[in-house]
Amino acid sequence: MTQQLGRFISFEGIDGAGKSTHVAWCVDWLKAQGVKVVAVREPGGTPMGEQLRSVLLAEPMSALAETLIMFAARHQLLETVIRPALNRGDWVVSDRFVDASFAYQGGGRHIAQATLIWLKNQCVGATMPECTFWFDVALSTAEHRRKVARTENANIADRFEQENHDFFARVREGYRQIYLQEPQRVHCIDSTQTIDDIRAQLTMRLSALMKQK
Ligand code: TYD
Repeated sequence: MTQQLGRFISFEGIDGAGKSTHVAWCVDWLKAQGVKVVAVREPGGTPMGEQLRSVLLAEPMSALAETLIMFAARHQLLETVIRPALNRGDWVVSDRFVDASFAYQGGGRHIAQATLIWLKNQCVGATMPECTFWFDVALSTAEHRRKVARTENANIADRFEQENHDFFARVREGYRQIYLQEPQRVHCIDSTQTIDDIRAQLTMRLSALMKQK
């Protein structure tokens, strides 16, 4: 087993939970503390992964095909970016990671847990984030935020954003189950708080992480 010196953090939440602005802010905050940070996103983060992302967000496909492509992109990202960065001692901040497959493909698309666990064991192994921020918000709030963001950016909804209320209810429940199973790793952020309150919660946790080890 390779020695892992760096720290690995991920951000999760349903579409519209408001995590992305906080990911960017955390990366800047860590850099300002003198931490070497590699920021990635899933699906994506590598040339191959970004191509797969375009396919995943646009092309109709079966739930299992979607799952396998998510994990293919993830494995490439782990092998070529995440593990090398951790081995150098850098911090890795990932906008989504394997929890998203359990929430979206497991909860949302009904892919069996056993399939996801097998894929996780094969692709991710022990390279798991030690800290995950789960941005949680009511479905109606997330739906409203998605609409506002689409209008502001003149975007059309991608294949996931087009899903209905029940789909996002299952995804949110998927995240809640992970949070209940792993409360040490997963930190719930009430995403209806003010930006300043959320930042205070994030920096408290990140500062604690910086002091460990
Ligand atoms: P994301 O980059 O968070 O979307 P955006 O930048 O548009 O807010 O994620 C893209 C979509 O991919 C999102 O709807 C969730 C989905 N997804 C999965 O379904 N499974 C996964 O394992 C991952 C990583 C993402």
